[in-house]
Amino acid sequence: MTTTDPAAATSGWTSADIPDQTGRTFVVTGASSGVGRAAALELARHGAHVVMACRDVGKGDLAADAICRRHPRASVEVRALDLADLSSVRAFAAAFVEGGRGLDVLVNNAGVMGLPRSLSADGYERQFATNHLGHFALTGLLLPALSAEGVRVVTVTSSGHRAGRMRFGDLMGERRYRRFGAYFQSKLANLLFTYELQRRLARAGADAIAVACHPGVSSTALGRATPVQSWVIGLGDGLVSQPAAMGALPTLRAATDPGVRGGDCFGPRGIAEMAGPPVRVASSRASHDEEVARRLWEHSVELTGVDYGGL
Ligand SMILES: NC(=O)c1ccc[n+]([C@@H]2O[C@H](COP(=O)([O-])OP(=O)(O)OC[C@H]3O[C@@H](n4cnc5c(N)ncnc54)[C@H](OP(=O)(O)O)[C@@H]3O)[C@@H](O)[C@H]2O)c1
Repeated sequence: MTTTDPAAATSGWTSADIPDQTGRTFVVTGASSGVGRAAALELARHGAHVVMACRDVGKGDLAADAICRRHPRASVEVRALDLADLSSVRAFAAAFVEGGRGLDVLVNNAGVMGLPRSLSADGYERQFATNHLGHFALTGLLLPALSAEGVRVVTVTSSGHRAGRMRFGDLMGERRYRRFGAYFQSKLANLLFTYELQRRLARAGADAIAVACHPGVSSTALGRATPVQSWVIGLGDGLVSQPAAMGALPTLRAATDPGVRGGDCFGPRGIAEMAGPPVRVASSRASHDEEVARRLWEHSVELTGVDYGGL
């Protein structure tokens, strides 16, 4: 465990620390469930307008209704977004940009874990496509809307990124596929992307920053494709895992704390970063490898056709 925030050793950041977000707009991917849903609720409770970007609009509507029942003045809307289908990502981004509403914070949260090998609509391995490529494309396509002061791109990774390796010779797992190898690779990609985006934004003199976070071990639907894992997580509920509302705190801190700097990463403070209040944490050395990040960026541009206008 590598907590790099000495102040947080004595303090515990909670949702009560979220500043008023009135007048600000957030897009949260995967807001129909788990960490994304819990983050959307808190953001709306603090006055933000939240666009809940969901693969399953019916499920998103149920989540939005639940938020509005708890907070009748919440300003939330559900829009369709399938990150594993680049045409859906393009349609979502085009509608958002054409709508003319500025975007203050993009939260790249949605994810899948431990799937048997399957392909996205574009023919890419589904975990890499959903967790990394879809968010890479979405961020690049939403850049024109990300122009206000204090703008952030927050991407949700996992402490499991430490086990990840970028296998550029076999990114799609065609020759050898391991469910968790593919997941960890995609979560390492989330960090390489965040740090590379931050470097590019800084070089361009942009006000926007890129930040990462992870929810520790949180009780959500993420393990549903892996029955054994779900059973272990279920057994550990309350022992090692924390509720989704706690797992959302690193995301909420990354998205709203005025003290956040570009390239920060937030995770839970507790043992092995599994649970606890959110603090700055250090990610693996591999996640800071600039040469690997540049290669991943180039592959991602080629695979998605989104080039960030040369950023
Ligand atoms: N829970 C943990 O312990 C843990 C640990 C480390 C990292 N994380 C990360 O936390 C993030 C949130 O996961 P969670 O734990 O909250 O899991 P979750 O409850 O399963 O939520 C995942 C969300 O992503 C959405 N999603 C999946 N595929 C999508 C696609 N193709 N397009 C758009 N949305 C899609 C899901 O929509 P549907 O409901 O329609 O499937 C759901 O809303 C993920 O990035 C995950 O890697 C979680």
